[in-house]
Amino acid sequence: MMDSLNLPPLRGAAGSVRLPGSKSISNRMLLLAALAEGNTEIRDLLDSDDTRVMLAALEKVGVGVLCIPGNPLRGQGTALGANAYRVSGCGGVFPVKDADLFMGNAGTAIRPLTAALALSGGHYRLSGVPRMHERPIGDLVDGLLQIGADVRYTGQNGFPPLAIHPSQVKLSAPIRLRGDVSSQFLTALLMALPLAGAEAVIEMTTELISKPYIEITLNLMARFGVKVQREGWQRFTIAAGQRYRSPGVLHVEGDASAASYFLAAGAIGGGPVRVEGVGRNSIQGDVRFADALQAMGARIEWGEQHIEARAPAAGRLKAFDLDLNHIPDAAMTLAVAALFADGRCVLRNIASWRVKETDRIAAMATELRKLGATVEEGADFIAVTGPRSGIPGTQSGTAPTFQAGIAIDTYDDHRMAMCFSLAALGGVQVTINDPQCVNKTFPGYFDAFAGITAPVIAIDGPSASGKGTVAQRVADALGFHFLDSGALYRLTALAAMKARVTLEDEPGVAALAGQLPADFEGDRILLSGEDVTEAIRAEEVGVGASKVAALPAVRAALLDRQRAYRRFPGLVADGRDMASVVFPDAAAKVFLAASAEARAERRYKQLIAKGMPANMHALLQDLQERDARDAQRSVAPLKQCDDADRVDTTEMDIEAAVAAVMSIVKQQRL
Ligand code: DC
Repeated sequence: MMDSLNLPPLRGAAGSVRLPGSKSISNRMLLLAALAEGNTEIRDLLDSDDTRVMLAALEKVGVGVLCIPGNPLRGQGTALGANAYRVSGCGGVFPVKDADLFMGNAGTAIRPLTAALALSGGHYRLSGVPRMHERPIGDLVDGLLQIGADVRYTGQNGFPPLAIHPSQVKLSAPIRLRGDVSSQFLTALLMALPLAGAEAVIEMTTELISKPYIEITLNLMARFGVKVQREGWQRFTIAAGQRYRSPGVLHVEGDASAASYFLAAGAIGGGPVRVEGVGRNSIQGDVRFADALQAMGARIEWGEQHIEARAPAAGRLKAFDLDLNHIPDAAMTLAVAALFADGRCVLRNIASWRVKETDRIAAMATELRKLGATVEEGADFIAVTGPRSGIPGTQSGTAPTFQAGIAIDTYDDHRMAMCFSLAALGGVQVTINDPQCVNKTFPGYFDAFAGITAPVIAIDGPSASGKGTVAQRVADALGFHFLDSGALYRLTALAAMKARVTLEDEPGVAALAGQLPADFEGDRILLSGEDVTEAIRAEEVGVGASKVAALPAVRAALLDRQRAYRRFPGLVADGRDMASVVFPDAAAKVFLAASAEARAERRYKQLIAKGMPANMHALLQDLQERDARDAQRSVAPLKQCDDADRVDTTEMDIEAAVAAVMSIVKQQRL
């Protein structure tokens, strides 16, 4: 396991991210599907520690759960686990009547399960990691005791671990419940009470916090056929005789809390950054985080299935003073965004932070101070003033200066790790300790973050301009990853030839490109496990590549795959449209040119050196034809971008060309 992750100083953020499924929706849907009559297929379920805790517990109490694996694109490492699950509902009666259940640190699992198990007539023991035993559950247990449930503390009063025994539940009087510590206690009771069959009433005895999470609960219960009558946020009534019935197939929205890191990255780092999987019709309250960013001056655009964020049109992000009770999780992201604001930022009404994965107010204050912020903290607020000139070690808060680095502790709290990745956008190296804690809700987080922030050096140019060799050497010199995008077009052509798909068959070739079973292992390139390193360099494959590269559907099919090579510490990508289409926000853009005669001569020498026949005149003609085809095609034609630096290598050897590119890269301080 990795103990720490070094994030390089980051200059900006742009791109798009497909979000993993929502944790809040995933765990609620799993429990409701388990309690329902009939089978439910849940698509795009989040694959993370917290959902695994719920799945394992449900299986232990006898609920049938079958994973229908997704089909992630090969060669993409972000592991956003788009799995579907089929849950065989038990109709409200868990088959196993005696079980020990380990709930890790998953609040969204232990709270609702405690309530459901208390009404299930069995003997169950629930425990978790040490921090879980410090997280309150007393208000929920008090609510359950009022209706005659038998729930006992086996450790500290008011905290897990718990023991549950069968009992006679009576719903004669309203359940009086506190809602000021966690809204999950109300969620838990609401989801469990239909199991009792009789009319159930819950009356809140305090203000209810985090109300949008209750909306998610009510929305999902309704999809399973149970209606709750709500009088304000004061009184909730579940009419007698309602039962959960499977709605058949359900889809989990992208996680709106996870979206906050990327949207903030877009607001801090220029953008545009688009998150896909949540949009204007989301049922998750955390999408309102985008409004808070907007209040800071960020430019936000809403779609049906996406949200996009950019930096303010001019100037810095603005300071804010906001009540964030409705978005407690996403609010943490604002505390880090505050480092980049133009004044003192106040986050109010966030007392629940103190009882989450860690004491988030204390943890946030400690770590923000390491970055030079002035922080005031109280029982239910935090105020953050960013360092006047940006984060320490930077000049004016934007220019990166390599320094020993700042190490951020994460307190086994996924959100601390994800939030503080944003600090690297201040142009400082940031070390995230115990980065694997993101597995709680977002195992592929750092790859997804790299996908919008890792620096890219785009090297484009015509055939035989030497860009492949130059790009590889630049990547080696910087310790960056390397993408030879031409190889993907060559592989696509070769795969089509092998499958006897004609190169003019656009949908057929695009389908192959979308599923290309290609792997890059060191210097070797494999297609369906076969070593094709030499085969894709054959002249006829090159001609075929040029043909398939002119097909718009093929280019579209390879786009995400190329972008997925963007990883820390950075990427050097060579091709024809790296700067214009694939990585328009590249940190450095180089156009490598050489006269057709010089390029033909290089190729001639290469072929002769390999003992192969070569004809100078034919090579020149072939290159000119390929140049024309690459330059005249309708999509992504080969041309120099306005913001690219031109390096003419006609008179240069490889060493000189590498040196010329490295000096451009150095100007960008990469
Ligand atoms: O760079 P190369 O010779 O390996 O590229 C093979 C073909 O693929 C070439 O005709 C241009 C095309 N190509 C492209 O259109 N876009 C890229 N990004 C890379 C290559």
